[in-house]
Amino acid sequence: MITKLLTLSATAILMMPPSGPPEGSARPTAPEAETEEARIDLVASHAVESIERGRIRFRYEPFGSNLFFSNALGLDELLSQVSPRQALELGVKVDSNNLPPSVRRALVQGAVDLDDPAVTRFLFQRFAVVGVVANVTDRGELEDLGITCAFCHSTVDDSLAPGVGRRLDGWANRDLDVGAILALAPNLEPFSDLLGVDEETVRTVLNSWGPGRFDAHLNLDGKAFRPDGASGAVLIPPAFGLAGVNLHTYEGWGSMPYWNAFVAGHEMNGLGRFYDPRLADEEKYPIAAAAGIDDVRDKPDLVSSHLADLHLYQLAIPAPKPPADTFDQAAARRGEAIFLGKAACSDCHVPPLFTDPGWNLHTPEEIGIDSFQADRGPEGRYRTTPLKGLWSHTKGGFYHDGRFPTLLAVVEHYDDHFELELTETEKLDLVEYLKSL
Ligand code: HEC
Ligand code: HEC
Repeated sequence: MITKLLTLSATAILMMPPSGPPEGSARPTAPEAETEEARIDLVASHAVESIERGRIRFRYEPFGSNLFFSNALGLDELLSQVSPRQALELGVKVDSNNLPPSVRRALVQGAVDLDDPAVTRFLFQRFAVVGVVANVTDRGELEDLGITCAFCHSTVDDSLAPGVGRRLDGWANRDLDVGAILALAPNLEPFSDLLGVDEETVRTVLNSWGPGRFDAHLNLDGKAFRPDGASGAVLIPPAFGLAGVNLHTYEGWGSMPYWNAFVAGHEMNGLGRFYDPRLADEEKYPIAAAAGIDDVRDKPDLVSSHLADLHLYQLAIPAPKPPADTFDQAAARRGEAIFLGKAACSDCHVPPLFTDPGWNLHTPEEIGIDSFQADRGPEGRYRTTPLKGLWSHTKGGFYHDGRFPTLLAVVEHYDDHFELELTETEKLDLVEYLKSL
């Protein structure tokens, strides 16, 4: 079958109708039908292979970030001495599927010494630390430690113990304290050099982020705090349910492959090729412009060849469906009618994508909030958040910076801003609907 696929000429494939013959044309002859079937297989098998490769990269590929996290920051030294309990307290997760059955049993029975750093090193040997990869040397030390996309965008289902369970790719890890982990690094000079401040200041900024947050703009504009003094860090968003969504990130920086190349290079500090002349704007992005990150040509380029697979993989991750007992179904049905009708939420959150088809950005005034974070992005706007799977990331609050602690607070905000005059019951119904997505 495969050989037959490969011998099909490119012209033959291009000549094929997209789906069956046009109206009124002759029925396809037997060989042509077979060809159509073969073409579908080619597409499907390509997608499956690419998704599988993307999954591996998403979970385990540091893109060269190990040079930065180990050689520059010295985090490998630090994590060699950290116990599993300390790591779990910082929100790091453990993938139980990568552990041998005997260790899984011991974990359930509480027979694993979570205060022993040797256990941490064992977890690294098994690739069981979600989103962090490292070599374990013969002397039992960690080296070459790097992070992967899964560090922030995967969690576990806690099925064995808190923080230990089956991996959930695409879920935002709202327990992970990225700032606190970075602040523990023996050497913060790379950050202080870049930002032009001393290491103590860097540490203060990193410790101001808190769990589930990260500031992807600090190394562009150097703005660590909002005008009101709160941290400039935003909530880690999920990386699921994004197929069909045009622009990504809270500020709408670009497509998924755009942002993946950006993050792998500029946030994970991996090695890659990256081009975006918008970052050469000295006024808006003084740190980025001085560092020349608008046009990076690292050699080797460890990112570009994985962008297609990463893209397909993330597009294929569905938003998780809420368990039936986590919301009131009748109220959710009433809430849907309000979402589509009286409250007109669907003007922007258009089902089934729950973002705007087309240019999915809105001004801060339109949604009634300040422009600080929007102004750090390229368009001065906020992207309409796709709402599927909302129930899985309630920790940390809602909107880019978690300013609304609950969904009811979000609804109250809209009720006020759009003068919707929703009754208390309507507000609660709307919340049940949001929980059901
Ligand atoms: C250190 C934590 C961290 C790591 C590692 C990380 N991300 Fe993110 N990611 C974030 C944060 C925070 C945002 C939101 C940034 C913003 O909008 O300002 C984000 C945004 C995204 C988005 C946009 C989601 C949306 O709703 O549009 C995607 C997609 C994404 N990341 C994928 C990836 C991939 C793929 C990798 C690995 C190459 C990766 N991320 C690595 C923290 C991280
Ligand atoms: C004018 C377009 C627009 C309308 C109308 C609108 N939204 Fe939004 N919505 C947005 C944008 C833009 C964001 C992103 C805000 C941010 O992250 O700061 C957002 C964010 C949200 C979030 C936060 C999601 C998250 O993961 O943090 C929820 C929930 C939400 N909207 C629900 C609603 C509901 C319910 C309504 C109707 C009452 C509504 N929206 C009406 C544009 C809109």
